[in-house]
Amino acid sequence: MADTVAANRAHFDGIAADYDKRYAQGLGQLERQFRESEAFIAAKPGGRLLDYACGTGLVSRSLAPPIAECIGIDVSEKMIEAYNAKAKTEVRIIPLFMGRGLRQRPALASAINVGLWPHKRQAFLGDLTDPSDPSPADFAGPEFWNFDIAGVGAGFHHFEDCDLAAKRLVERLCPGGVLFILDFLPHEADFAGSHAGDHGSHHGAHHGAAQHGVKHLGFSHERVKAMFEGAGAGVDFGFKVLEEELVFRRDNGSEMRRKVFLARGNKG
Ligand SMILES: C[S@@+](CC[C@H](N)C(=O)[O-])C[C@H]1O[C@@H](n2cnc3c(N)ncnc32)[C@H](O)[C@@H]1O
Repeated sequence: MADTVAANRAHFDGIAADYDKRYAQGLGQLERQFRESEAFIAAKPGGRLLDYACGTGLVSRSLAPPIAECIGIDVSEKMIEAYNAKAKTEVRIIPLFMGRGLRQRPALASAINVGLWPHKRQAFLGDLTDPSDPSPADFAGPEFWNFDIAGVGAGFHHFEDCDLAAKRLVERLCPGGVLFILDFLPHEADFAGSHAGDHGSHHGAHHGAAQHGVKHLGFSHERVKAMFEGAGAGVDFGFKVLEEELVFRRDNGSEMRRKVFLARGNKG
């Protein structure tokens, strides 16, 4: 297993139980902005979503509805467990009872998330980005192909080879399907190292990033466009910077801020 994947697995297995609470503010911001970007992403209503590097399920939650079925894949077993536990206890009853009116009022919609719709949202342990395994046997079944939409929320900066990851996702789309990426604009290496001597130093920042499984310090518009085109999803490419900066609070009370972009393109 590549070092980057191993580092990610160890890091996210370690924080999975605490992830939603620890990053509540940032995840809430992202969920809101995802919902507001429904028209920009322009996924087929009622379609199937591949939520890659799904974590605890932020993207699946944000896009369903209008997405009818979500499949998550992630390298962290504990994040998968958290995703599936939430999928069993949460469901949006909006399409059944409320229609569009309530979808435009997400706060009220969240308040009535009740019931069970487990077959519509499920996550699996695995890695589609391994260069030595282009066709993982676990994901050979028809349910893992022909998605209407495939994307990654805040995961690309954790991947060893982003171009390969984008290609592997596009392969899983139906013709005309949508690829999207939500991630950070280029930023400084501002992670604090975990060792006392590292704190605040340039070396410490890089060490801290590696410990968190971080491989890239954000992406420029040009870089992302080239990635979409190289992967075969450059049709109707769109790139927008989200209005709200993302705020993460560290345990020591300091803040980490990120400007976030959302990019989308159709498979040609
Ligand atoms: C910052 S979290 C984002 C999770 C979720 N998408 C969200 O927006 O909350 C990054 C996720 O990427 C996963 N990950 C990292 N490298 C991966 C890879 N090569 N393949 C699949 N998942 C990966 C991690 O396990 C983690 O769950």
